[in-house]
Amino acid sequence: MVYKTLTKVSLVAGLAIGASSGAFAADEPKTMMGASDTMLANTCAGCHGTDGVSTGPAIPTIAGLSNDYFVEIMKGYAAGTIPSTIMGRMAQGYTEDEIKQLAKFYIAKPFVKAKQDFDPNLVKEGGKLHDKYCEKCHAEGGQSAEDDAGVMAGQWTPYLKYQLADFNAGHREAPKKMAKKLKDMMSKEGQAGIDALISFYASQQK
Ligand code: HEC
Ligand code: HEC
Repeated sequence: MVYKTLTKVSLVAGLAIGASSGAFAADEPKTMMGASDTMLANTCAGCHGTDGVSTGPAIPTIAGLSNDYFVEIMKGYAAGTIPSTIMGRMAQGYTEDEIKQLAKFYIAKPFVKAKQDFDPNLVKEGGKLHDKYCEKCHAEGGQSAEDDAGVMAGQWTPYLKYQLADFNAGHREAPKKMAKKLKDMMSKEGQAGIDALISFYASQQK
């Protein structure tokens, strides 16, 4: 497991204990063979909710993503090319077919936006920055799953902040064009730009 920051560790450390039953199941591939969707998804429910709508701010909601994004990120976690605190170990316990099965199960569920606090004074600026730097690949203000780039509108903001910090630090590799846009944005706006974007994503509660 790769721990990035202390905050991240403290937020998910408790989860590692909760994950042990899941990890145990994942260690027994035989019992997973031919498992039903619900049986497979049971392992995820403790953290991501029964329908993929997570209730904890450091854990992303995984319902309603695109199939390609879901499958690619699970493979990336398993291979270690996408950094994680928990998911690397989790993802390694599944075959490619099981990952596809899990994807099919979760993409059919609605992404329910998290209700969370944000700074209303930053929303307008965040929306402008989003349109300028991010909208091209994160369409509809970050709501669309279709561009295979995750969902940011209504996603838990602590999770988004960790991802942006990881992209900025080069721990998580952003697609080339995104890396460029993010760098441009950071050099012009700095951390205030991130704060504004985060407020904008959290403000989209409908
Ligand atoms: C112990 C808690 C825990 C369990 C159990 C768990 N996850 Fe996760 N999941 C996380 C955390 C935390 C992250 C953020 C990445 C990280 O730090 O590991 C995450 C991230 C993800 C993401 C990326 C979402 C995005 O928007 O990029 C997907 C997909 C995912 N998990 C799927 C699953 C599936 C499928 C299962 C069951 C096989 C599962 N998770 C089980 C905690 C958990
Ligand atoms: C050229 C297209 C492109 C642009 C522009 C772009 N992104 Fe991305 N973004 C992607 C893709 C593709 C992914 C999925 C990467 C992966 O699978 O690791 C992604 C992933 C992300 C994630 C992780 C989502 C998750 O659930 O883990 C965040 C956060 C993010 N982008 C933020 C931004 C922000 C903020 C901007 C604007 C400053 C931006 N992106 C601009 C293509 C883009």
